Amino acid sequence: MDTVGDIAGLRTALDVQRHRKIGLVPTMGNLHAGHMALVRECRRACDICVVSIFVNPTQFGPNEDFGSYPRTLAEDLRLLKAAGTDFVFNPSVDTMYPAGQEDHVSVSVPSLAHTLCGEARPGHFDGVATVVAKLFNIVAPHEAFLGEKDWQQLTLIRTMVRQLDMPLWVTGVPTVREASGLAMSSRNNYLSDEERQRAALINRILNGIKTGIERGDHDYEAAEARGRQKLAAAGFDVDYVAVRDAGRLVPPDADTNRLRILAAARLGRARLIDNVGVAL
Ligand code: PAJ
Repeated sequence: MDTVGDIAGLRTALDVQRHRKIGLVPTMGNLHAGHMALVRECRRACDICVVSIFVNPTQFGPNEDFGSYPRTLAEDLRLLKAAGTDFVFNPSVDTMYPAGQEDHVSVSVPSLAHTLCGEARPGHFDGVATVVAKLFNIVAPHEAFLGEKDWQQLTLIRTMVRQLDMPLWVTGVPTVREASGLAMSSRNNYLSDEERQRAALINRILNGIKTGIERGDHDYEAAEARGRQKLAAAGFDVDYVAVRDAGRLVPPDADTNRLRILAAARLGRARLIDNVGVAL
């Protein structure tokens, strides 16, 4: 496994591999079983597996956790090596934003950037789209692997790739969960043991709404309101519980044939998100 911090060095290393299928797993490090499922899928589907580790400042708001985001590079490299990763791209902020962050070109996906998590985190998805576009240009992978846990992010990246005609395939990998149902996340580290148990309620509520819909309850707004109340009663500070069209993330309409039920809520220091799918 080669660990590379500069763009030219990575391109040179990948140039001689272009006849093989190259896969990319973009991450911010502090790797857990969720990330490793993406790496496994990349290894299975591609000849060369590139994992990027970059805590991207432009996707964090001024009052968010960029400074305190867990950075565990030595352990991450150990896990990636054991998983058979070929290249780790681990650039500095200066390497990715040599002209600074303010004057940088920004990629925006207006139809998806301002709803749901975009409402609570203004600018977040422009930062995500911009850094992922850069990573796609730097690595030029044939296929990229993203987690369904961040459904809005996955949908946004798919839309960016389609609308900007980027020549790669985006694969979504199902959410890896703890035994309690809690979606694995680096931000779960911010929870106390008691909060971690309570956090599993988010997934139970989403699954409850899913079961209701499958049994024929299509009053989505009432289900959303009940979900928000249950979370608030358990001490969560709720951003949203929403039943949406899975592809466009708008409220379901006549064109909707797949639903996604999504939630975001704060518990203690952590902002937690989760989602589940329902076929109609
Ligand atoms: P990060 O939060 O490190 O996540 C990296 C990838 O792992 C994302 O595609 C995310 O959806 C996936 N992932 C995280 N937890 C998961 C879980 N429990 N099950 C399955 N997949 C999971 O998402 C980012 O970084 C950044 O926004 C990034 C795309 C790297 C751009 O900076």
